[in-house]
Amino acid sequence: MPISSYQYKAIQQAFQPGQQSFAENPYGVYALLRDLDEPFYYEDMNVYLLSRYQDVEGVARDGRMVRSLEAFMPADYVAEQQHLANFHDMPNHERFVQFSMLERDGDLHRRLRMIVLQEFTRSWVAQYTSMIQQTVDKLLDALMAEQDIDFIGDFAAHIPGYVIGHVLGVADEDCPMLRTWSENIVQYFDADRSEARKQLAEQATAEFALYLKDLIAQRGRRPGKDLLTRLISASNAGRLSEDELISTSMLILAAGHGSTIDVLGNGMLALLNHPDQLDSLSSNPAQAPAAVQEMIRYDSPLPFFHRYASVDCEVMGMPYPVGTKFGLLYGSANRDPRQFSHADRFDINRYPNRHLGFGRGAHLCLGNNLARLNMEITFASLLARVKTIELRQTPRFRLGLASRGVRELALRLL
Ligand code: HEM
Repeated sequence: MPISSYQYKAIQQAFQPGQQSFAENPYGVYALLRDLDEPFYYEDMNVYLLSRYQDVEGVARDGRMVRSLEAFMPADYVAEQQHLANFHDMPNHERFVQFSMLERDGDLHRRLRMIVLQEFTRSWVAQYTSMIQQTVDKLLDALMAEQDIDFIGDFAAHIPGYVIGHVLGVADEDCPMLRTWSENIVQYFDADRSEARKQLAEQATAEFALYLKDLIAQRGRRPGKDLLTRLISASNAGRLSEDELISTSMLILAAGHGSTIDVLGNGMLALLNHPDQLDSLSSNPAQAPAAVQEMIRYDSPLPFFHRYASVDCEVMGMPYPVGTKFGLLYGSANRDPRQFSHADRFDINRYPNRHLGFGRGAHLCLGNNLARLNMEITFASLLARVKTIELRQTPRFRLGLASRGVRELALRLL
């Protein structure tokens, strides 16, 4: 059935990623979207939103649906679209995007992804177990001296920078800078493209690229046992250019940073709001792998990505022309009752749990094994050391559509 004007207005009023009410609970709006039998056109981002599991997964797996306009549109059209989205006049950011596997398609994407794929398999990342354990233990040692903490600022925010930094070969003392750069770059992919935010993104990309250039020169002179050294070898063997080397390193450092911080916070909050699940996980840490999957499904930290139709196509039974932009609401698909029984229930033993929190298809999250290992160790270690965790204050979520996480999570550890 076509959308009635009443339904359309109700969704238009509720779908406000710039408002606090949406940030606190987007799931009611997602449910309204899933009731529609066609994609909802969100004018502010010129995008057709897909909200049901089957449709989101179908488009994510469809090779004709691509990340980049460059793959099939003339250069002047691409430039015009960049202008409209305020993505012009930012040479450093543009360079990062241009050579990033996340933004490429087809053979180019496959080549960039294949160079690093082996580095992120479950068996390969297992070698980082003790490094992650040490990183988490060190942070917990400091945390145990406090009773009242901000789970995000005092704990979660420090974990991914060190972990991904160590994997790549960044020195300990430089890891904190990765957070600021990553956050300032990633924030510009969300709906608010103001000039101030644009400046932040451009400056962070420029500084990050300079830092990486310097680090690459150092590793070139003195190779190590890290991922960066192996990427430099691949570059020396002609498998990736210097720009691709910098962009790949930057993407690996940035892509897994905020997402991991957010999902640690969202996961902790879900446990606190479901004390039976928290007790269950505390008394049986073997549940950690399943619990972590459920945290990623239940409150996905990256709920929205896009694809462009590279040919005329049909989606949800309706025709769309080449160039149409679709929004994949992974966060909504993960709450679709057609796919998950009691979809709004947080159940750390949920099985099966084929969530879309890491995406699907060609761009399936490269770092998903590392992210899950990191989370499993973090929650198992925290719950082994703390008897009681209390929420001191209801947290507030950040505004936005593309990423989801709390600003602060005020806890009391007993
Ligand atoms: C819980 C934490 C994480 C979540 C929820 C997450 C989620 C995602 C999602 C949904 C995508 C798919 C994007 C799309 O459909 O267009 C993606 C892609 C990607 N992620 Fe993650 N991610 C996480 C952690 C990480 C980590 C730790 C790394 C790196 C070490 C990483 C690296 C990447 C890369 C490189 C891509 C692009 C892959 C490609 O285009 O082929 N992510 N991630």
